[in-house]
Amino acid sequence: MAENRLRIMDTTIRDGQQSLWATRMTTAEMLPILPKMDEVGYWAIEAWGGATFDSCLRFLDEDPWERLRLIKAACPNTPLAMLVRGQNLVGYHHYAPDVVEKFIEKAHENGIEVFRVFDALNDIDNIRDCAAAIKKVGAHFEPAISYTRSPVHTLGSYLAYARELADLGADSLCIKDMAGLLVPYRAAQLVSALRTEIGLPVHMHCHFIGGMASANYLRGAEEGAEIIDCAHAPLAFGNSQPAVEMTVSSFAGSPFDTGLDLDLLFEIADYWDAVRKKGHHQRGITTLTHMRIYKHQIPGGMMSNLVGQLDLQNMHERLPEVVAEIPRVRKAVGYPPLVTPMSQIVGTQAVMNVLTGKPWSIISKEMRDYLAGAYGKTPAPVDEEILHKVFGDTDPRDVCEQARSSQLKSYADCAAEIGDLAESEEDVLSYALFPNEARSLLERRRAGTLKSITDPLTVPESDSNEEEIEMNVDQIRELIEALDDSSVAEVTIKEGSGEVTLRKPVAVAPAPAPAPVAAPAPAPAAAPAEAPAAPAAAAAPAERPATWKAITCPMVGTFYQAAAPDAAPFVKLGDRVNAGQTVCIVEAMKLMNEITAEESGIIREICGVDGEPVEFDEPLFYYEPVA
Ligand code: CO
Repeated sequence: MAENRLRIMDTTIRDGQQSLWATRMTTAEMLPILPKMDEVGYWAIEAWGGATFDSCLRFLDEDPWERLRLIKAACPNTPLAMLVRGQNLVGYHHYAPDVVEKFIEKAHENGIEVFRVFDALNDIDNIRDCAAAIKKVGAHFEPAISYTRSPVHTLGSYLAYARELADLGADSLCIKDMAGLLVPYRAAQLVSALRTEIGLPVHMHCHFIGGMASANYLRGAEEGAEIIDCAHAPLAFGNSQPAVEMTVSSFAGSPFDTGLDLDLLFEIADYWDAVRKKGHHQRGITTLTHMRIYKHQIPGGMMSNLVGQLDLQNMHERLPEVVAEIPRVRKAVGYPPLVTPMSQIVGTQAVMNVLTGKPWSIISKEMRDYLAGAYGKTPAPVDEEILHKVFGDTDPRDVCEQARSSQLKSYADCAAEIGDLAESEEDVLSYALFPNEARSLLERRRAGTLKSITDPLTVPESDSNEEEIEMNVDQIRELIEALDDSSVAEVTIKEGSGEVTLRKPVAVAPAPAPAPVAAPAPAPAAAPAEAPAAPAAAAAPAERPATWKAITCPMVGTFYQAAAPDAAPFVKLGDRVNAGQTVCIVEAMKLMNEITAEESGIIREICGVDGEPVEFDEPLFYYEPVA
C-alpha cells in the first residue's frame, strides 16, 4: 500500500443524491447495495444529514432515524458520516443549545461516527454547541470551512477561522467547496497552508460543477490532503462530486494510490445506474452555465432558483440584470458565501431590486434577520446606508433578539408539545426540527397507516390536477420557450441542487370547485356563522374616487395581511400609514417579503385576500394620499 494512501469518503447516498436526485433516494433503494459498499474500504460513507432528514419527513414518509439505524446495520465496518449545518443542525434556522446537544448525542447513538459541521457564514459561534456535543460523545469532529471568493475571504481569513476550529477540538478540517469555485492552484495553496499552519488532516469536499474538482483533488493530495469526497459514477459529476471510479484510477500507481478495488467499485456503479434509470433520474452534467461559475460565481442550484423566480414573474429575459445585481447585493451585505440559506436570501434580494427598479425598497424578513445578525456575524461590515434603510430608528439588536427567541424552543418544551405521540427521544428531536412534518408522520405511525420504510416507494398516480416534472436549468429554458407561460403555475427549487420542480396545471374537465374565497357570490347556506368577514374586495366600489392610488404587487406570490396567522394585520381599513410602513407580506420562493407604503395615506380598500395568490402588478390596497 502506498505510503501516502489517499482516503475516500463516499457521498453517493447523501450529497450525491441531494445534488442530483433532489434528495429523493429512498432507504429501500440503498439497502441492497450497502453491504457491498461496506466492503470497499472507504474512510467513511456519508449517509445522513444535510437535506436528507428533511426529505425523509417531507417527501418520502420515512422516519430519518430508522433510516440511519438500517444503514448502520448494513455497514458495520465503515464509519458513517453526516453533514450538520452548525446551529441549524439539519434545518434552516437556529435551534436551542439543548436541542443541538441531544441531536448530536442521538445521531451518534444511532450510528454516526463522523460529524462534518459547517456554518454558511463561517461564524465560529454557530459551531460551538455542536463541537462541545460531538467532543462529549467522543465522535470524530470535522468542522468545514465554507469556501467562497471575495475581497474579505483571503488565505489569512481562512487560516484564522481554521485556528478557531482547531481550538474547538477538531479532529480533521474540511474544505467545503459547495459552489465549485475552487481552482487547482488555490486549492494547493490552501491545503498547504492548512497542513503547515494548523497541522490537522485536511479533507477536501469539492462539487464538480464547472469541472475543476478532480484537478483540485490531485493538487490537494500533492500538498498533503488526506481525504477526498467522491460519489459512484451514476450519482457523480454535474452538481455532485467527481466519480470514485475515475478518481481511484487517476491515483493508481502514484504515491497516493487509494488501494481500492476498481472491479468492486464498478459492480456498485452498475447497481446505482440501474436504480438511476428506474427512477428516471438525470446524470450529472456540466452545462455552459455551470462552467461560467468562474465568471459569475453563482452556484448551480442558485442559478436554477433565479431562473425559476424570474419565470414565475414572467421576466426570464431579465436574468442578465439579476446576475449583474448579485455581486452588488453580496458586497452591500458583507460578502456572505452563497450557500443555503444565504444563496436564497441574496438571490431573492437581487431579483426584487431588479424587478422593482428601486433597489432595497422590498426586503424579505430573512434578509432583515440576516442584517440584524440573527444568522451570525456577517463576513464584512454591511453598507451603512442599507442598514439605515432597513432598520431606520429600530435597533438591529432587538430585531435579532426577536428573530432568535421565536426559534429557540428548548428540548423539554418540544417534548411537552408533542406529548405521547413521541415514543422516543428521536421522535421528540424530529418534532423539534420539523414540527408539522414530524407530527404528521408520528400520527400516521400511530394510526398504522405508515408504509414500511423497506418497501419500495410507490409513487401514487397523480391524484390531483397537476404533474411534477424535474429538470435542470437548460431544460427549463427550453420548456419556457415551448410552453404557454400562463400555464405555469408554480416552480419550486430543491435547495442545494440544480433541480427544479415545475408544477403545471394539467388540462382536466372543469371540476365543480368550491367558489373561491374572494368571489362576490352569495355565501353557501351552510357557511359557519363565525366565518371571517368577507374580504373587502367583495364589496369594492365600482368606481373609485380619482384621488385613490393603488399599492400594487411587485411579484407573483401569496398575500398575507399579518406576520403570523395569529398576529394582528399590518393595516386595517381606515388606518393611516406612513411612507415606508409595512402594509402586508407577499411570500415568494419561501421568503416573506414585506411590502411597504410608498407615501403616507389612508387605507381605503384591501384587495388582497389572506393566504391567496397574487399576481404581478395586481392592486393589493387602495389608499388616499395625505399630505
Ligand atoms: Co456538498
